[in-house]
This record gives sequence, C-alpha cells and structure tokens, in this order.
Amino acid sequence: MDVWSAITERKSTTTFSSETPSKDLIEAVLEAFTWAPTHHLNQSWRFDVFTGVGLERLADLDIEVSLSELPEQIDKAAKDKIIDARKTTVLSAPVAIIISVPEYSDGKSRYLEELSAGAAGIQNLLLAAHEKGLASRWRTGKLSRSMKAKLYLGLKENEEIIGIVHLGYAAENKSDSGVDRYRIPVADKITWHDS
Ligand SMILES: Cc1cc2nc3c(=O)[nH]c(=O)nc-3n(C[C@H](O)[C@H](O)[C@H](O)COP(=O)(O)O)c2cc1C
Repeated sequence: MDVWSAITERKSTTTFSSETPSKDLIEAVLEAFTWAPTHHLNQSWRFDVFTGVGLERLADLDIEVSLSELPEQIDKAAKDKIIDARKTTVLSAPVAIIISVPEYSDGKSRYLEELSAGAAGIQNLLLAAHEKGLASRWRTGKLSRSMKAKLYLGLKENEEIIGIVHLGYAAENKSDSGVDRYRIPVADKITWHDS
C-alpha cells in the first residue's frame, strides 16, 4: 500500500469484530510507532497493551473514574447508563493500547516535544495498522486524564497519557458511520510567505 492511500483511507473505527489480532501483529504496529521522529532520539514513549481480562480490568477502571466524577444525587438508572456506555466504549475493540510520554522536570520542560513525537508515533501506528488490515481508533477521555489511571499504570506524576488506541478488525456487514471525517480544504489553512 502506498503512503497516500494509507493516509487517506485510514479512518477511526467504532465497530470491531471480537477477533483479537496476534501479539506479533500488535508488536509490528508498535514497532512502526517507534520509527517516528524523536528529538535527541529520546524515544521516551511507553506502551501499555490491554487484552482479555486485562482489558476488562481497564473497563472497570474507566467506570470507576466516570462514577467518581458524578454528582452524589445522581439516580441509579443514570448511573447504570454511564456504566453501560463506558463498558461499550472500552470493550469496543479487543485491544487497547495506552500511550504515555513524560514531561521532564529538568527546567526546560520538553513535554511539547515528547508529546509531538508521541503523536507522530501514534499516526505511524494507525497507518501501519491500516496497511495490515486492522481497524483502529485514537481516543482520550476522562480515563486518560485521571490520576487513577496513572496510579494503575504505575506512571510517574510527570508522565501523561496522550492516547488510548483501540485496535482490532472492523466488524463485517455492519455499516460503520465512524466519526466525523470532514476535512477543511487545505487552501483555507495555508498562508503563503513568498513575497
Ligand atoms: C488527540 C485525539 C483525541 C481523540 N479523542 C477521541 C475520543 O475521545 N473519542 C473518539 O471517538 N475519537 C477521538 N479521536 C478521534 C477523532 O475524533 C477522529 O480522528 C476525527 O473525527 C477524524 O476522523 P478519522 O480519524 O476517521 O479521520 C481523537 C483524536 C485525536 C487526535
């Protein structure tokens, strides 16, 4: 597959089949991540991969985070609805990969650079996944911003989750409207400095 096709065909998928990609395949897309540009070759990213029971535990954690942020007077029906929605989201694909990068506390604060390298890596991962016939979705959400998740993963206080990538195979025979993919025409975004 050529690069242009991979870039333009890749899309966020919301409906996955239950088939779990092999560990070799997961490692291959993570290797693609590691070829991202990285200032000083820092390669400071970290991957936590969840499948099976590990993924169910992650769903439990996501529910715990969501419930902890609710007002106390919320009724049971509303609570149950949130629990269902969180489960559906986290278990939507058979694999979830949490990507974290550090914010150095050396006074120079290179977080922006680590974040940028991590984001480039995630795009590499998504493109490689598409090329290998996998479907994916990059997500963030409350879990990614929670201290509970940091503690669960054993992240240091200066490490940030920059993405949760759901990975699997697109469900067959299901129309997946996915998420909004409209792109503003590139000409609207360009300022030429040529005179
Ligand atoms: C930093 C970041 C965070 C995102 N968070 C979410 C999210 O929480 N939930 C979700 O469904 N999609 C999320 N997305 C995916 C975007 O919604 C999606 O990429 C966008 O709508 C374009 O669609 P496409 O990926 O199919 O081209 C996120 C994307 C990025 C880059």
